[in-house]
Amino acid sequence: MSKTLKFAVLPGDYIGPEVMDVALDVLKAATEPAGIKLEYEVAAVGGAGIDAHGKALPESTLKVCEEADAILFGSVGGPKWEKLPPKEQPERAALLPLRKAFSLFANIRPGLLLKELTDASPLKTERIPEGIDIVCIRELTGGIYFGQPKTTETLPDGSKRALDTMVYTTEEIERIAEVAAITAKGRGNKVCSVDKANVLETSVLWRQTVIEYFKKHHPEIELSHMYVDNAAMQLARDPNQFDVLFTENMFGDILSDEMAVICGSLGMMSSASLGTKQNSHGLPYGLYEPAGGTAPDIAGKGIANPCAQILSAAMMLEYSFGEAEIANKIRDAVKQAVQDGIRTGDIAFGMSPVGTKAMAQAIVERL
Ligand code: NAD
Ligand code: IPM
Ligand code: MN
Repeated sequence: MSKTLKFAVLPGDYIGPEVMDVALDVLKAATEPAGIKLEYEVAAVGGAGIDAHGKALPESTLKVCEEADAILFGSVGGPKWEKLPPKEQPERAALLPLRKAFSLFANIRPGLLLKELTDASPLKTERIPEGIDIVCIRELTGGIYFGQPKTTETLPDGSKRALDTMVYTTEEIERIAEVAAITAKGRGNKVCSVDKANVLETSVLWRQTVIEYFKKHHPEIELSHMYVDNAAMQLARDPNQFDVLFTENMFGDILSDEMAVICGSLGMMSSASLGTKQNSHGLPYGLYEPAGGTAPDIAGKGIANPCAQILSAAMMLEYSFGEAEIANKIRDAVKQAVQDGIRTGDIAFGMSPVGTKAMAQAIVERL
């Protein structure tokens, strides 16, 4: 009997639809030989949701997501909607509520650079002779992104005062610590927890909780701690000292962009966001998206790197549909294409770049 994969496709804005389009082509080409059928529904989100339905996360889109087994997400936001009140803008009104709605607290962002491709990294090759292989586990539904109160008030003298609240509970820290531990067990058995415990109360709790949790549940894992400012520096100095880089929401946002570029480009970094919800296959329900944004500066030119979107689709195959073998086929095809010098402008450096479609086509040919 043939297997059917039911997922929601939310392309979003600017380069979102461009890279989504070709990622779906790759997904089809990779799954067809195994007799797998794709049953996906495309729904508007972000600026596209505002334009079509007056809302960044229309109810109809949320419904499509609820009825699916996973979400393949592009990216949202950009200059077209930046004049809207901040709370109505695509990022805050669509992406964050979507992560929250499905309690997708665990964001996994792999930082992988093959040794054959170190020329794509801004780091000197002699610092990364074997390439880079690290992973960021980022807490995604807590911290300063979601803490209340979150307000702006006008003071009596007419000036303003804005407030964000950074908050974490023991339970929120423990559940993401477990994800970091499981991830480390499948790799180098090493976790570096990144915080700012010399300043922040949330970080003091983070560090204490992580120490106690690992001592009790995962004593065999090598656990270290680092302040976030040092971690930013160490990543640029010697990224491979890390195996699993584990941190809270905002630090993870910032460090993962840094990880992406030292691994070649933001256009290469995929991500999976998982929670406790299981899908109809008894596997984790997840949202899969590139770590980068809508790249308005290059949108419409057909030159965006589709690899982050394609590799996010591969993560979806593995985590939400149990198709690790096909996921690895896609990863190998991406590696092979890049290795063969077929690269979009962000990673071409000195080679002649190809466009989004040609890159995806090259990947399909190497499946
Ligand atoms: P960005 O990630 O969109 O772009 C940063 C730089 O990286 C740009 O120069 C861009 O051209 C480049 N880049 C990103 N992805 C690329 C790709 N696939 N191929 C080639 N180059 C790529 O960040 P930004 O400019 O700060 O943000 C633009 C918009 O995207 C903002 O509205 C922001 O809020 C939004 N954003 C959305 C998401 C998301 O939906 N997950 C993530 C990050 C940013
Ligand atoms: C990311 C993005 C988002 C975040 C924005 C667009 C809300 O930067 O996924 O890294 O900060 O989480
Ligand atoms: Mn980000």
